Amino acid sequence: MSEAIEVDISDLPGVGPATKAKLEAGGVTTILDLAAATVNELVENLGITEETAHNLIFESQRLLRDKGYLEKDLVSAQELFDRRSKMVKCTTFSKNLDNLFAGGIETQAVTEFYGEFGSGKTQICHTLCLSAQLPVEEHGLGGGVLYIDTESTFRPERVAQIARARGADVDKALSNIHVAKVYNASHLELIVKALGNLIQQNAIKLVVVDSIISLHRAEFVGRGTLSERQQKLNAVMHRLKRIAEIYNIAIVITNQVQASPDTFFGDPTKPAGGNIIGHASTYRVYLRKAGQERKAIMIDSPCHPYGDTNFMIIEAGIGDPDESKKSATSSWKTRAIEKKTVKTAKEDEEEKE
Ligand code: GTP
Ligand code: MG
Repeated sequence: MSEAIEVDISDLPGVGPATKAKLEAGGVTTILDLAAATVNELVENLGITEETAHNLIFESQRLLRDKGYLEKDLVSAQELFDRRSKMVKCTTFSKNLDNLFAGGIETQAVTEFYGEFGSGKTQICHTLCLSAQLPVEEHGLGGGVLYIDTESTFRPERVAQIARARGADVDKALSNIHVAKVYNASHLELIVKALGNLIQQNAIKLVVVDSIISLHRAEFVGRGTLSERQQKLNAVMHRLKRIAEIYNIAIVITNQVQASPDTFFGDPTKPAGGNIIGHASTYRVYLRKAGQERKAIMIDSPCHPYGDTNFMIIEAGIGDPDESKKSATSSWKTRAIEKKTVKTAKEDEEEKE
């Protein structure tokens, strides 16, 4: 559902104006914030007891369930079916990739793309910024985009180029993309906490986080900080998943890779972030360079078989290998990418849980 959630924190039993003010002062402004919070977070930020925090979370989730915004603990398959039928799929503009997802990037889900530098993660995100704006009848999500840029790699001119190549109104397309430049891990955590409001205010149907892990990876260095980092990432992922379900929006995250020294056969890279990101992502797709093309491999999905396909990065964003032969890509020069995303064996060991 994309309509505003018409339940207020003060609708909760025992929450009067004083408690509401206290919650707001601690950054909890909507009932969704409360429902997606963790007990530890509330205790730390609000100075309340664990029991009160627990009750507040429990009651807010119950109210959202009663009003039909959250799935009930026990639902009939029919209800689940109805809810799933509200799910929309967004085209990637590549038929191959769409087929890998059995139609496109889904709402009510978190889709993770991971792969080494230059594998096309950011290019897919830029392309989705446009396709998400198409009406649902044209295989889009019919809404705006919120792009959370943690690596300073969002390029409006690239989006403009893709829009132009696809015959879209460039100004209109750009004005529907809201970019949040994020510079440190706690800033990312804050933005993710405020997502509910941002989504409602700007009619957002797609949230991109490019990338989910770079800031936490850079700030929490060394074995001693690993559990704190994983705890924080877990809270972020948990909230993203809830938000995708509650607002019926698509969430796309990118993830880096790290070397896996214990692999003797096959590809020695694996997604960064340990199990925390993998468990919370609904779909997990591995991107690899394959000559001029890119290979996308469905690594984890609740409903798709293991599969892979090839796509291309073209002037018009993402496309299929045959399509690229038609488009004029010769004018475009490959830029040198020196960024390293593959980590050392020692760091890899630290990330194992
Ligand atoms: P990191 O963020 O560095 O981990 O990589 P990434 O997976 O996000 O890579 P990204 O999506 O930035 O892909 C970069 C690749 O896209 C480059 O190696 C180019 O091959 C290709 N590319 C980038 N811009 C263009 C463009 O305007 N036209 C075409 N045809 N290809 C492009
Ligand atoms: Mg990138």
